Amino acid sequence: MIARTIQLTYEHRVFFTRAVFDPGNPVLRDLIAEGRQDGSGAVKILMVIDQGLAESDPLLVERIARYADAHAEVLQLVEAPLLIPGGEDCKNDWALVERIWERIHAGGICRHSYVIAVGGGALLDLTGFAAATAHRGIRHIRIPTTTLSQGDGGVGVKNGVNYFGKKNWIGTFAIPHAVVNDLDFLRLLPPAQRRAGIIEAIKVALIRDRSLFEAMEAMAGRLANLEEQALETVIRRSAELHMNHIAQGGDPFELGSARPLDFGHWSAHKLEQISGFQVGHGDAVAVGMAVDLIYARRRGLLPPEDEQRALGLIRAVGFNLYAPELALRQNGELIIVRGLEEFREHLGGELTITLVTGIGRAIEVHEMDTDVLPLVLDEMAVRFGTGTAQAAGGVPARVA
Ligand SMILES: NC(=O)c1ccc[n+]([C@@H]2O[C@H](COP(=O)([O-])OP(=O)(O)OC[C@H]3O[C@@H](n4cnc5c(N)ncnc54)[C@H](O)[C@@H]3O)[C@@H](O)[C@H]2O)c1
Ligand SMILES: [Zn+2]
Repeated sequence: MIARTIQLTYEHRVFFTRAVFDPGNPVLRDLIAEGRQDGSGAVKILMVIDQGLAESDPLLVERIARYADAHAEVLQLVEAPLLIPGGEDCKNDWALVERIWERIHAGGICRHSYVIAVGGGALLDLTGFAAATAHRGIRHIRIPTTTLSQGDGGVGVKNGVNYFGKKNWIGTFAIPHAVVNDLDFLRLLPPAQRRAGIIEAIKVALIRDRSLFEAMEAMAGRLANLEEQALETVIRRSAELHMNHIAQGGDPFELGSARPLDFGHWSAHKLEQISGFQVGHGDAVAVGMAVDLIYARRRGLLPPEDEQRALGLIRAVGFNLYAPELALRQNGELIIVRGLEEFREHLGGELTITLVTGIGRAIEVHEMDTDVLPLVLDEMAVRFGTGTAQAAGGVPARVA
């Protein structure tokens, strides 16, 4: 045997800024200049932009052009920004991967160039995948523009698209050159999407950070009203906790079976899929966390008062805890429960589900009792289903 250890060190960086494309803002220019070799000319850039974002921000493309002009000695756009429809649909359309590859090819984008993606988590996942696979990996800068992607999806090291009707079935792990969170973009989001990022912050607080959870309880009213400062505080801390997990959790590329940041996600992913992606990721995660919180309480792992407190905060910031798709059956079997096997399959190895055992504390289990799950879903229908949701929520006084 010949064995060698390959050691690599990566810097994973998330910048927080405003007006990233204002010519006076140096963040992006400096990041691109880092990759420039001495004496070489401007670095080639392919910009990929979320069309939904561009529609909400009609001057965006023009601002980017002016930014590029102002910093022409450092960066050169190989063509006008490529606009791609954002949202989950873009991850369901393989032709879009090829469209980005084509532009990379036509523009002569190489490993010393950059592909910069500006948009929601879906557009970032798609573009990140195209960039990671062209020439075996082109430098990539992400500029997430939703609360969810700024605090969670966009600050991670994964990319991917959906295939065989399954989420993220194709993808890679690729640490971006940098992530730039421009908080100004969040102002353009419709309320439901501004709210979506809050749920991932509650998720990471529940498994990792009691003090964040308590801080969120204290500002639940402001979060429910989507107040800018409250949102920013929560997004920053959420991004930081996600990055801590990736950098310090010992398994950045998820080679093991545990995936604590996917707390509540096994059923959430399935719910998104059953609904034909009509239920958004944030709304699905709220329901998915409720499934696992109630399950943990029923198994005696989570004290009832902590279950009520967790569910109370999720509702207090404006999420529903039930979706009618939870009750759908095929051949007598609850469809949502299949999400467990799909979750295991995606990760490989032993089924590993994170369950909360107290506010800020979690454990991993390798089995979910499929006799208990239908009881959980029944309980949810009664407590939170149509017409009965108000009857039994248990919103604690401190966040009500
Ligand atoms: N790679 C990861 O580690 C990771 C982690 C979590 C989630 N994700 C993925 O992220 C995706 C969800 O991302 P998302 O919640 O950001 O939503 P999204 O990307 O689906 O975008 C939602 C909508 O908002 C529009 N949009 C984006 N920015 C906007 C803005 N500032 N103003 C107005 N409209 C805007 C988009 O065009 C789209 O129509 C899912 O596909 C999920 O699987 C990935
Ligand atoms: Zn998520």
